[in-house]
Amino acid sequence: MYKVYLVGYMGSGKSAIGRRLSFALKLPYYDMDKEIEKQMNMSISEIFATYGEEYFRDLETKFLKEFRDEQCIISTGGGVAMREENRRIMKRTGLVFHLCASFPFIWVRIAKDKRRPIVQRSTKEELESLYYYRRKYYFQAAHINIKTDGMTLRQVTETLAFHYKRLKSE
Ligand code: S3P
Repeated sequence: MYKVYLVGYMGSGKSAIGRRLSFALKLPYYDMDKEIEKQMNMSISEIFATYGEEYFRDLETKFLKEFRDEQCIISTGGGVAMREENRRIMKRTGLVFHLCASFPFIWVRIAKDKRRPIVQRSTKEELESLYYYRRKYYFQAAHINIKTDGMTLRQVTETLAFHYKRLKSE
């Protein structure tokens, strides 16, 4: 077990939990979207608008392939688990948690979002079908699935830290 990856749909709490888990486990934290933005010196929306989504997906795969060899926590973007290659890299190089929230919980968090290009261009119905389409890939990507509905950030963080320590001591 080396890195800890957080996967899940947009608004499932990957970044908020990633930061807290990093503090709890005393491991460095990286937000994949932010790292890509730094590398490109552009926002995710600008990358989508200038180069298109496929290009952004290639940047995500490149990030996973080339990211430094370091024990750390990484929150991934909501589309990362869609590629088989990405799922393989994450499973091989770390422990993958799926933060699994049901769509009504997600919707409350993303409805007013101004930052995510996919939310900007989609209706609620489209986001809900994308959610159901993607779910199976998050399950395929993950070693452990955590159902987060009704849990506080603190409870989710403690649950992840518990699993991490349990697996580390095995
Ligand atoms: C995306 C999710 C975003 C970001 C990009 C595309 C997606 O990350 O990578 O806007 O396809 O689900 P978050 O899941 O952190 O919002």
